[in-house]
Order: sequence, then structure tokens, then C-alpha cells
Amino acid sequence: DEADEQSHFDELIAAEQRIEPRDWMPAAYRRTLIRQISQHGHSEIIGMQPEGNWITRAPSLKRKAILMAKVQDEAGHGLYLYSAAQTLGITRDEMTQQLIDGTAKYSSIFNYPTPTWVDMGAIGWLVDGAAIANQVPLCRASYGPYGRAMVRICKEESFHQRQGFEILLTIMRGTDAQREMAQDAVDRWYWPSLMMFGPPDDQSPNSAQSMAWKIKRFSNDDLRQRFIGMVVPQAEILGVTLPDPELHYDADAGRWNTSEIDWTEFHEILAGRGPMNAVRLQNRRAAHEDGAWVRDAAAEYTRKHAARTAE
Ligand code: 3HC
Repeated sequence: DEADEQSHFDELIAAEQRIEPRDWMPAAYRRTLIRQISQHGHSEIIGMQPEGNWITRAPSLKRKAILMAKVQDEAGHGLYLYSAAQTLGITRDEMTQQLIDGTAKYSSIFNYPTPTWVDMGAIGWLVDGAAIANQVPLCRASYGPYGRAMVRICKEESFHQRQGFEILLTIMRGTDAQREMAQDAVDRWYWPSLMMFGPPDDQSPNSAQSMAWKIKRFSNDDLRQRFIGMVVPQAEILGVTLPDPELHYDADAGRWNTSEIDWTEFHEILAGRGPMNAVRLQNRRAAHEDGAWVRDAAAEYTRKHAARTAE
């Protein structure tokens, strides 16, 4: 009965076992996984837009090929994650509809514009760097399909982060004007990349339960701190300045001291009032509508093929 199922589930979680699609799970566990995994998938799909903006204008064929490969990877990450979410009982159409209706969340980070090519470097270095810090622990998420999807995604993410760092390193060895572009991009992307980790722990309604269920392995603030610790030495190698005059390591407290993060900006974006929210959703809607004939043709082909083989 339900009580036995619950205690068996609790034993599996306590023993660091994986929960698989056909296992019994609390309804709330299923709901929070559908919430997080679908939003993660939406983030990957919407995340294709800021970078896609520069594929036709990359400064060389090599940079164009690398950027195309990266954007293609993001699409693939979105599909792995949607497939993982589907094992929990939500359909692809429902998730797509939630995104297009504007009722689904996706990462705040993708609601900022990418005005210069150097943004491709800052995104790779900071945004994919933050995504790695957040996603590596998710490889150990208690829900099997999610953790396994993360293993493949993290391998590709590390290439994304390195190519971004390399773009910035190249630019920083260029002219003064190019170095200013790099600093400008870092100034615009640094704080939004810190917001990717979510609100402060004392304002994070999902964290406690997600950590108890071993979906989330570290708190939002812990991962944010880990990310800052990764980025500080890399910024020194690049020769860029992180836009936080208060940033320093407090050895007594064993943590990075930072200026206040502007959570008002964060909540404005979550409310759909960021610089690019409307554009991102409009583009996603248009892609869905323009692609309707492909879905119809594939469905018709499948129907005819089934009818032929049934004869
Ligand atoms: N953007 C948008 N919404 C955010 C957010 C952000 N940066 N951070 C938090 N939120 C939302 C949460 O979804 C939650 O709302 P909900 O209950 O309606 O879903 C609310 O703010 C409160 O936040 P919590 O801390 O309570 O929520 P979580 O426990 O879910 O933690 C999270 C937030 C750390 C983002 C967690 O959901 C997570 O780890 N998600 C998977 C990773 C992910 O989505 N990463 C996106 C990075 S972009 C990416 O991966 C693409 C890469 O290739 C560049």
C-alpha cells in the first residue's frame, strides 16, 4: 500500500539509489521533476537564439563552424531533457504549449541581448561556465533519466565553455578597441550569470525539498560561490576585470564577499519584463507555426506507412 511504497522510496533515496520511470514515486517528486526538467529543456532551446543571432555574422569560417556546432548541441540538450521529462508523464506538445503560452519558465540568462560578436565569448565563458557548475552535480540527481541526460550534456558543455574562453583570450590579445569590447561584454554578462543559480537560499522555496530528494545536491548560494571561485582566476588570465568592486575572498568566513545582487532585475525577468523576453517567445512561436507543415507531413507519412504495412 501507499505507506509501504513511500518507505521503499525513502529507502532508495537514502541509499543513493536511482528512481526509474516505472518506480513508484510521490506525486510531488514527479511534479517538481517535471517542473525542473521541462524548464531546463526550455532554457536550452531558447538559449539557441542569443548565439544563433551571430552565426551568419561570425568573423571567420572557423568561428562560424564552432558556433553552429554549439547551437546544434543546445538543441540536442533540449531534446534529451524533454525526453527525460516525458518519462514522467508530460507530453512534448504540452511542454511546447507551456513555453509558447509564456506560462513556462526558462533560464533568466537568455533574456539579455547579444549586441556584439564578443558576447559569444562572454556567453561561452560565463553562461556555459555557470551551467557546468550547476549541471555537474545534477549528473547525480536521484531521478535516473535526468542524471543520465546530464552526463552527456556536461561533456558537450565543457567544450562550449572552453571555446568561449578562447574567443575572449584571442580578443584580449587584439587592439585596445577589442579589449574594450571584451570588458564591456564581461560587464554585461557577469551579474546575470550569477543569477542563473537562482535566488538566495533563504528565498528558494524548492531547494529544501529538492535537496531532501537528492535532485539538488548543493544549494543555490553554494554553487554560486563555487562558480565565482572558478571565474576569478580565469578573469585574471584573460586580463578582464569582474564588475564587482566588493569582490574579495573572506578567508575567515571561507567565502567570496560580493556586492548585493540586483534581485529586482531577476524578478522583473521572471515576470516576463526582461529586455528580450518578448522577442525570445515571439521567435519560438514563429518557429513552431512555421514548422507545423513538417509535423503534419511526418504524421501523414507515419499514418500512410502504417496503413501500407498493415495491408
Ligand atoms: N531563471 C528562471 N527561473 C529561475 C531561475 C533562473 N535563473 N532561478 C530560479 N528560478 C525559478 C525557479 O524555477 C523557481 O520557480 P518555479 O517554482 O516556478 O519553478 C523559483 O525561481 C524559485 O527558485 P528555486 O531556487 O526555489 O527553484 P529550484 O530549486 O528549481 O532552483 C535552479 C533553480 C537552480 C535553476 C534549478 O531549477 C536547476 O538547477 N535547474 C536545472 C538547471 C537549469 O535549468 N539551468 C539553466 C542554465 S541554462 C542552460 O543549461 C543552457 C546552457 O547550455 C548554457
